[in-house]
Amino acid sequence: MLPLRLRHRLRQTWAKWVLVLLSLLPFAYLCAGVFWDTLGPNPAESLIRSSGDWTLRFLCITLLITPLRVSTQWPEWLLFRRSLGLLTFFYACVHALCYSLFDMSLAWDDIAKDIVKRPFIAVGLAGFVLLTLLAASSFNAAVKAMGAKRWRQLHRAVYGIALLAILHFFWMRATKRNFDEVWLYAGILGVLLGFRVVHFTKRSLWKVS
Ligand code: HEM
Repeated sequence: MLPLRLRHRLRQTWAKWVLVLLSLLPFAYLCAGVFWDTLGPNPAESLIRSSGDWTLRFLCITLLITPLRVSTQWPEWLLFRRSLGLLTFFYACVHALCYSLFDMSLAWDDIAKDIVKRPFIAVGLAGFVLLTLLAASSFNAAVKAMGAKRWRQLHRAVYGIALLAILHFFWMRATKRNFDEVWLYAGILGVLLGFRVVHFTKRSLWKVS
């Protein structure tokens, strides 16, 4: 019989792998769509949009971890935060790659011109740069090298990423005047970020008194 601690560790590793495999299902679905040509009349657009939607969904799921941990008093939710953050980054890479490859054929001059012509892409790019910084510094060695305080400060950039993501989405839909999903995601992110403001304000007031 394995020691209790080791069994616990194995269960955690197993749970993380289940999460990662389930989270890769949308990616597998998109790959299958490319393979069997079932993505509709404009596959490039369909790929860019679906991967953008999944980036936003994973951002929301990552930001859900703190409210879940606080409201259930179950610290083990934190085990999934890093994997979810990296999955958000993964979908953002797929999204940016689909745009650069299928829409722009990797013509960097044209991409630069497109960014100037359609500023919503510049906003998405800013979110992507921040997301890259967070992904690159998400490993234990980076936390150690930076120190916990500076690492926490850097990772607050996730709130900026949420705002940039909504602005990117809003601006992109503005030409079509189709905002229903934008308001839905803005509402979800507003509740998730609002929860943090209330929680951390309460906590600092409690520390002062
Ligand atoms: C944090 C990073 C990002 C997030 C969360 C994000 C999210 C999204 C979302 C939700 C959409 C709309 C999908 C729909 O209409 O259903 C979208 C569209 C789009 N995104 Fe992003 N995006 C990000 C970064 C980027 C980057 C880095 C690029 C390009 C370099 C980019 C290029 C585009 C383009 C071109 C579209 C419009 C596609 C079309 O008109 O059909 N995005 N993105």
